[in-house]
Amino acid sequence: DTMGLADRSGHDMSGMPGMVSVADLVADPGRPADVTVDLTASQGTVTLASGRTVEGYMFNGTSPGPLIEATEGDLVEVRVHNDDVEDGISVHWHGVDVPNAEDGVAGVTQDAIGAGEDHVYRFVVDDPGTYWYHSHQVSHTQVLRGLYGPLVVHPRGRPSAVDVMAVTHTYAGTRTLNGDEGVVTFGASPGAVARVRVVNTDNGAVQAWSSAPYRVLAVDGREVNEPTAVEGKRVSVPAGGRYDLEVTAPARIQIGSTALVVGDDDPGRAPQPRDELDMLSYGSPTALPFDASAPDRTFRYSIGRRPGFLDGKPGFWWSINGHLWPDIPMYVVDEGDVVVFEIENHSGEVHPMHLHGHHAVVLSRDGEEATGSPWWVDSLDVDDGETLRVAFVADNPGIWMDHCHNLKHAAQGLVAHLMYS
Ligand code: C2O
Ligand code: CU
Repeated sequence: DTMGLADRSGHDMSGMPGMVSVADLVADPGRPADVTVDLTASQGTVTLASGRTVEGYMFNGTSPGPLIEATEGDLVEVRVHNDDVEDGISVHWHGVDVPNAEDGVAGVTQDAIGAGEDHVYRFVVDDPGTYWYHSHQVSHTQVLRGLYGPLVVHPRGRPSAVDVMAVTHTYAGTRTLNGDEGVVTFGASPGAVARVRVVNTDNGAVQAWSSAPYRVLAVDGREVNEPTAVEGKRVSVPAGGRYDLEVTAPARIQIGSTALVVGDDDPGRAPQPRDELDMLSYGSPTALPFDASAPDRTFRYSIGRRPGFLDGKPGFWWSINGHLWPDIPMYVVDEGDVVVFEIENHSGEVHPMHLHGHHAVVLSRDGEEATGSPWWVDSLDVDDGETLRVAFVADNPGIWMDHCHNLKHAAQGLVAHLMYS
């Protein structure tokens, strides 16, 4: 099952001509792991860092689950055990462009890991950055109720600044930061430069801004080219998205209703800026590693809403190109293709679209061309009435989900797939 959509994407593609074999898609089985992690999923009463308890799911007895840290080039081996989650679980490495077999999508790349069962994931992390992991089984319930955690890939050989996690999540109506409510303090001496990794694990965007000027160092695990100081503007972090913000202590970063103080003194809450930083023009342009003006394939991807039946249930459902799930075409590509998606949204609501296994660069919005740093994303808000053009290279064979990360919308059918022929 993928998003609570029972087993309908559980195709066995192994016998199809032209498909790459699983052996081609996994890390060298003979190579020893550089980082080994044990993750045990369980169900029950979660005690948050704030001391509050909620009913939900945990990894290793906590929510968020443990921070997984690796260095670029490492082979990460995660041994997952599902203790007692009845619906089964899987673990998806959100934003890490892993080989398809390791993508952790129950019903597409593996079977769900049943209660009492084990599964081992092995993948090499090539791209330093901020990521997260979460269950991809009945996700709209399991993720929202706590089955997720952060993952950071550090660059090799570069000294790291003060590194701070800022994982935002809403439990039963209360927004938290690293499982805490209110203001979280990270002690740092004045003048210390910190990289604050904002990870949005919620169903909707969160606004973040700092009391002092800041820079956006990276988005979705990809560095911004020549980021400049931002003042009087907020960033909007889409559901599933990550923004790495650089601040100099003392600073207070507001993340929705929670805040992170970096430093020994709290500079106090700065009011929310009216203006949002536009990533389309932020930073400096630099050449793309492919020619986006000559795509091999262009797909129109129009999100709407219409009456119909989903799972035999009448309702007003999300549609893609006028179709309701599962009557949605796969976007079929060949390896090496330069692919353009033209994503339109006429549905009346914002959709944070997440493409698995790939990063796409935003080319334009409503015809306005990008002028800043290449803005690479794996999670992108598509507002109502908006048209975004994004491009990527089909360089990771397999079957990949492309869905709304408002996980309720995904469970309501806003799910497509990218497939290599
Ligand atoms: Cu973060 Cu398909 O998911
Ligand atoms: Cu949506």
